[in-house]
Amino acid sequence: MADSTKSATLEIDGKKYELPIFSPTAGPDVVDIRKLYAQAGVFTYDPGFTSTAACDSTITYIDGDKGELLHRGYPIDQLASKSHYLEVCYLLLYGELPSPAHLEDFESRVTSHTMIHEQMMYLFRGFRRDAHPMAIMVGVVGAMSAFYHDSTDINDPWQREVASIRMIAKMPTIAAMAYKYTIGQPFEYPRNDLDYASNFLKMCFAVPAEDYEVNPILARAMDRIFTLHADHEQNASTSTVRLASSSGANPFACIAAGIACLWGPAHGGANQACLEMLKKIGTPDRIPEFIARAKDKDDPFRLMGFGHRVYKNFDPRATVLKQSADEVLELMGIDDNPILQVAKELEKQALADPYFSEKKLFPNVDFYSGIILEAMGFPTSMFTPIFALSRTVGWISQWKEMIGDPQLKIGRPRQLYNGSTMRDYVDIENR
Ligand code: CMC
Repeated sequence: MADSTKSATLEIDGKKYELPIFSPTAGPDVVDIRKLYAQAGVFTYDPGFTSTAACDSTITYIDGDKGELLHRGYPIDQLASKSHYLEVCYLLLYGELPSPAHLEDFESRVTSHTMIHEQMMYLFRGFRRDAHPMAIMVGVVGAMSAFYHDSTDINDPWQREVASIRMIAKMPTIAAMAYKYTIGQPFEYPRNDLDYASNFLKMCFAVPAEDYEVNPILARAMDRIFTLHADHEQNASTSTVRLASSSGANPFACIAAGIACLWGPAHGGANQACLEMLKKIGTPDRIPEFIARAKDKDDPFRLMGFGHRVYKNFDPRATVLKQSADEVLELMGIDDNPILQVAKELEKQALADPYFSEKKLFPNVDFYSGIILEAMGFPTSMFTPIFALSRTVGWISQWKEMIGDPQLKIGRPRQLYNGSTMRDYVDIENR
């Protein structure tokens, strides 16, 4: 971190404290409060971390006002149109775009780790058939630490590297197996002669009884969905991974924690919730009713796929996905998809409504992704697992960055305690 050149003065009870200010390469200045408690005996209060930077990072940058998302400086729309997922994985993990030789080496390393330990099949069989694939993923990914003992020592850079490659390589296999298990079909082994996205589609949709040809346009759309979800700075699941790993926990356990956090409907679970909402709306004439509910303070209903903690203008990932939705539906011969019509009309009506514009609520990445995934043949329960497998590289890149930081400390937030002060225990007969 660069030395601070500015400072802020905080005055408490007439006493002044100088707080260093750091200027990042992009984004707002950051006031350093690390020594505040030691010097002034006060904590800061920021539930939801709306104004708190918990780490310094060089991986991803978001300018929420401009609707800008950069990975290692490269804009997401350029990466989505000109690059592909595994190249973006390399960029996130190692900081630079790869040379052709480095990319080939990286792809071959990932490809040679796609199979999972055969014994892990029994883990899947222990779940109920109607288990949500996310429930299976949380369990199976956490259990990887019981299978890959030679890559759990976080102090060994080689083991960290192997764990990273293993998770990127095996996550599509695990997600596809979770899906196959829940629909009662046999598991499909990975095919290392296919690219990452094609392999995933084949593992999800092929059956042993028939040949399966991967449609290259669908594979491209799949790859684009992976790319658009690859990393997103210090979001809830990434912060969960960082907090879990700050204790020195093994990487598989930490990624399982990230998957658990992602599952919530305010985060990665929003894509499933959004498509279910669009289906519930059903026809454009019912949109005003749902908009009214979203605006009603006494109704907990929110427009799923709308709003973002950081983006306050537009989500650049939603822009790319809206275009992809049209392409995929055209390819599938679905030219008048009623759900897409509802989505487009809902977007139009919400954006024209002062409630949404004043609160700066715009469609986010989850608004259109579900429509594409459903057109590709995925059930809604697979939307969040696909988000999880795409985001794995982001979690791992952030984890590697954190473990490699000599200033690493266990994460331990403070609290504003409002409970009872000390009081004496009362025997049960006297209560
Ligand atoms: N529909 C209706 N009102 C909303 C919505 C929405 N989708 N989102 C926020 N608001 C209102 C909210 O009621 C609040 O109003 P008021 O100031 O009057 O109390 C105001 O906007 C600010 O909301 P907030 O909850 O304080 O904002 P936040 O930054 O904490 O939450 C969010 C961000 C994404 C959790 C939220 O917008 C939301 O719940 N959206 C729906 C779920 C969703 O689509 N999540 C996916 C996010 S993108 C992918 C990802 O990160 O995984």
